[in-house]
Amino acid sequence: MSYETTYRNSIKNPNEFWALVAADLEWTRQWDRVLDESDAPFYEWFSGGELNTCHNALDRHCNAGRGSQAALIYDSPVTGQVRTYSYDELRDEVALFAGVLAANGVGQGDRVIIYMPMIPEAAISMLACARIGAIHSVVFGGFAAKELATRIADADPALIVSASCGIEGTRVIPYLPLMEEALSLAGVKELRRVLVSRPQLPIEELNPCAVLWDEAMKSAEPADCVPVSATDPLYILYTSGTTGEPKGVVRPNGGHAVALKWTMESIYNVKPGDVYWAASDIGWVVGHSYIVYAPLLHGCTTILYEGKPVGTPDASAFWRVIEQHKVDCLFTAPTAFRAIRREDPEGVLLHQHDISSLKTLFLAGERCDPDTLHWAENQLEIPVIDHWWQTESGWAMAANPMGIEALPVKAGSPTVPVPGYDIRVLDDEGNEVPRGQSGNIVVKLPLPPGTLPTLWGNQKRYFDTYLSRFEGHYLTGDAGVMDEQGYLWVMSRIDDVINVAGHRLSTGALEEALATHPAVAECAVIGVEDKLKGEMPLGFVVLNSGANIDKATLKKELVQTVRSLVGAIATPRDILVVARLPKTRSGKILRGTMRKIADHQEYKTPATIEDPAVLAEIATALES
Ligand code: COA
Ligand code: AMP
Repeated sequence: MSYETTYRNSIKNPNEFWALVAADLEWTRQWDRVLDESDAPFYEWFSGGELNTCHNALDRHCNAGRGSQAALIYDSPVTGQVRTYSYDELRDEVALFAGVLAANGVGQGDRVIIYMPMIPEAAISMLACARIGAIHSVVFGGFAAKELATRIADADPALIVSASCGIEGTRVIPYLPLMEEALSLAGVKELRRVLVSRPQLPIEELNPCAVLWDEAMKSAEPADCVPVSATDPLYILYTSGTTGEPKGVVRPNGGHAVALKWTMESIYNVKPGDVYWAASDIGWVVGHSYIVYAPLLHGCTTILYEGKPVGTPDASAFWRVIEQHKVDCLFTAPTAFRAIRREDPEGVLLHQHDISSLKTLFLAGERCDPDTLHWAENQLEIPVIDHWWQTESGWAMAANPMGIEALPVKAGSPTVPVPGYDIRVLDDEGNEVPRGQSGNIVVKLPLPPGTLPTLWGNQKRYFDTYLSRFEGHYLTGDAGVMDEQGYLWVMSRIDDVINVAGHRLSTGALEEALATHPAVAECAVIGVEDKLKGEMPLGFVVLNSGANIDKATLKKELVQTVRSLVGAIATPRDILVVARLPKTRSGKILRGTMRKIADHQEYKTPATIEDPAVLAEIATALES
């Protein structure tokens, strides 16, 4: 069936479309309704149905004779380890750890925080939660204590799983001091902990509330899969919004399993048994969906890679992994390819490896600039597919649906709306703009299965953030154009979210960090263009009168403050001291205009500006 027909079908007959897809999974109770519109605009999928995500990701395949196939390959150049888990082995490990969770008081509906480096125990913890109906919330290991604390406080967990350290290149990063500080900041010092002691930094003294992973596994009783309601949350994943307060995106079990399994065939064009590699981190949505759940739901082999595209040991790292494990499909962020290209522009290292198994490269997380896309196409000589999605959707909203129909690639566009997503472009008044004109990218409700039904514990914020701006539509937060051929072009954010190396950060959180410095009276953070990371944060600070500190010390202290409050991934490129910030007469900081000045783009002086002279001061500060 063509893309056009499939797409039209999904929008016109969503009940039939998704019911057919859902039949690919095993349910312990059939749903009453496919699309439940009874509480619109809050929609649910497969209400009344019951299933277990872990059963569908592991046990189902073991029962069907796939038990000895590799389910997960842990490849860690930073520790020199490669370890393969078959479906049978992974199911057994997960069942045992589910037993550990249960023995430590975790039950159905309880939250479990997972603050882990890229080790198999991270994926095992996620699947073990799913097995007993507990809700996991993975926090990216690169986040510092305060960010972790906010998430702990909001999720109110029954337990935390962590490890002694992460490994960044050759550096060992201790995790436990950060975790302890976060527990203390969140006011839950007594929380149960299960800790993986890694040989690179063995745990010597154990907190009385903690058990060691290996010890606990020795005495654990395996736990079985618990049927849960299709609409019960599988996980909460916090993401950055306009303010410093992260939003807990909720992912329901049923719709998630259905949609993700469908994407493997329809978008990524992979079959059960194929090797799928998402070179991301389990702390991000890409890691949740495409390192853990989707490949396993589809019976593929997934790769969990503890390393970087460069430096572990060099720019051939990806090609080595592809050759060694015969990877069929690779998914990563454009930043990774920019990093590889910078070190090996002619592809000398690439051509020393046999990567003939690789059929397609998918890129997402940030806009893929045409230059990077063409470089990757020329080097790899396979289709390179940019696709667009976000934490909230959990799977691609626009893509080239390679398993349905491979459409011609237009560099710079993530191609067309994915079946299920009725994407429109609206002007600020909510009218659809003609093709070719830019506007707010929205999705006409209902969103398809697997997308967020709400924010954790905050239905009002969910409504206010996403559904209230344009009635009957979900606001993506991105702006762009739908062209004459129906291709989408995603150009920028409409809010203060920035994207650093494919990592989504809130300028609000960075500003909150800068504002804690005693010398800072006021501040603003913008994202400026960066050749490698797409964007990087740039800070502007106005000092308190009488602040007596030299600029170099101040800058060092401010950078350190951001690193220790938000995390090293948010390290600003620079901090500039200015006398004033450009504001509207109502006091709103004109970050968009500042950004244009910093990126040497044309800009108009906003009519609402309080004092136009401030823009010249900003330009001078940037030049110096
Ligand atoms: N735990 C602890 N620290 C971490 C971390 C983690 N999980 N991940 C990153 N950091 C630290 C890094 O060590 C670095 O610290 P430093 O400033 O002290 O050196 C800092 O955060 C910035 O890291 P990173 O953004 O990875 O930049 P880099 O310069 O080390 O590497 C790239 C550049 C391009 C190689 C890297 O950004 C990359 O691999 N990008 C791909 C991104 C990606 O896969 N995104 C997922 C979305 S699909
Ligand atoms: P995250 O929730 O961290 O996945 O970030 C989602 C945001 O990243 C989107 O709303 C976009 O702003 C941006 N993004 C992700 N993928 C793409 C893409 N392929 N093209 C353009 N922007 C993208």
